Amino acid sequence: MVVGAGVGGYVAAIKAANLGLKTLIIEKGAYGGVCLNIGCIPTKTLLKSGKVFEQTTQKAAAFGIEISKDAKITVNWTKVMERKEDIIKKLSSGVLYLMNKNKIKHLEGEALALDNHTIKVNGETYTADDLIIATGSTPRGLNLPGFEQAQKAGFLLNSTDALSLPKLPKKVVIIGGGVIGVEFASMFASYGSQVTLLQGLPTILEMLDGDLSKEMTKILSAKNNITIVTNAMIKGIEKNKVVYEVDGKEVKLEADYCLQSVGRQAVTTGFDNIGLQKTANGYIEMANDYCQTNIDNVYAIGDVNGKLMLAHVASHEGVIAVNHIATKKGVKHAGHTKMEFECVPSCIYASPEIASIGKTEEQCQKENIDYKAFKFPFSAIGKALADGDTHGFVKLIIENKYQTVIGAHIIGNRATEMISEIAVAMESEATIAEIAHAIHPHPTMSEAIGEAAEALLTGKTLNL
Ligand code: NAI
Repeated sequence: MVVGAGVGGYVAAIKAANLGLKTLIIEKGAYGGVCLNIGCIPTKTLLKSGKVFEQTTQKAAAFGIEISKDAKITVNWTKVMERKEDIIKKLSSGVLYLMNKNKIKHLEGEALALDNHTIKVNGETYTADDLIIATGSTPRGLNLPGFEQAQKAGFLLNSTDALSLPKLPKKVVIIGGGVIGVEFASMFASYGSQVTLLQGLPTILEMLDGDLSKEMTKILSAKNNITIVTNAMIKGIEKNKVVYEVDGKEVKLEADYCLQSVGRQAVTTGFDNIGLQKTANGYIEMANDYCQTNIDNVYAIGDVNGKLMLAHVASHEGVIAVNHIATKKGVKHAGHTKMEFECVPSCIYASPEIASIGKTEEQCQKENIDYKAFKFPFSAIGKALADGDTHGFVKLIIENKYQTVIGAHIIGNRATEMISEIAVAMESEATIAEIAHAIHPHPTMSEAIGEAAEALLTGKTLNL
């Protein structure tokens, strides 16, 4: 039995059905969960519309495309929203189609676990040998003066609210310079909104390799409608003003909306009385890398276990959990068996994109790893010039003894498409020689990976 049909749960259910296990999935909301309905997919559709607008209004001329002075280029926000809704509908109904195609029994309702084998839903009880909890997460909020009132008044938003605004805001304040804060800052700015990003720490995207966060700060700050304020201490909200303190001074900043993106929290409702162990932050604790909890037949996958809150981690964990169940039942499978958290790529879909995997340079230093790093800039790549976007670089990190790749940090156009090469390299413990010897097609952005590898292997670059 799988509870939750987000990208973790629905993939787990399909995998279970593929292996011939009798499978039931229960969902109380929309099929596809956060990712498809109020997360990855809607943000990417809004980012794309914004990018089209920004390119047309600001960049077309540089490509030799001229728009006459009297031409009016505007954002039709209703159409932008409709496009987003159409894509969500297509994908969400696609999940339901896949449930039916794979003959997975599905129920719409809220699950309540009575014990580690029994679930009550819509007044009926169902039992199973194994249970997969894939109930996800919701946005976390700060509890500061005026926040509750501001939320009720529709001024204070979370990431879900921010995806369905009735109109395009002129001014937005974003609290939290993490993944969501930076993606939304980039998205709103691309439509021309004035954005102020308030980050509590000295840097934005503090979990990334320092070079990435520095480069992103530089690029975002260079846009004339994004202001980044670091070390900002939020004090509260007064009507349509966000009150914060920076360098000992209090500032009251007026805006149309304030988005708070200060992390997410696990949804464990319905599973609080069966003796599951939780982490200090309220996530269901994973007892091992097979996603088992402290109760052997109960698995926790995706955001609810809080390990890495990424859609692709959720679906991968779903497959791993099901493979583990299959092994227990003596069902043969050819799949991977264990989560390897050091090989997880993470992507930020701002403009430019960021993609990262493995150790950061700061981690290498902290762990006293004997390493070497090299950064190859996209400004030396022909395809980047042709695309009119030369921001960023590829940074590769290898450990010196065996010369295997232990980290890659990319910022630039299409970074999120390029990182998979390094995921394969790390999964197969490839050395830098194998990456350097692999032929990277020309002209592509991925040549920067080949060049960085060449530099680490030979000490010299070819095109720099
Ligand atoms: P986050 O943990 O990435 O960032 C939260 C940020 O808020 C941190 O930088 C923190 O320093 C800051 N912060 C916390 N309290 C603050 C305060 N009082 N004042 C000012 N700043 C404060 O959380 P976020 O951005 O909400 O994302 C939640 C989760 O969703 C993350 O795990 C993220 O990885 C995941 N996600 C992943 C995406 C992707 O893979 N592209 C897209 C969106 C979310």
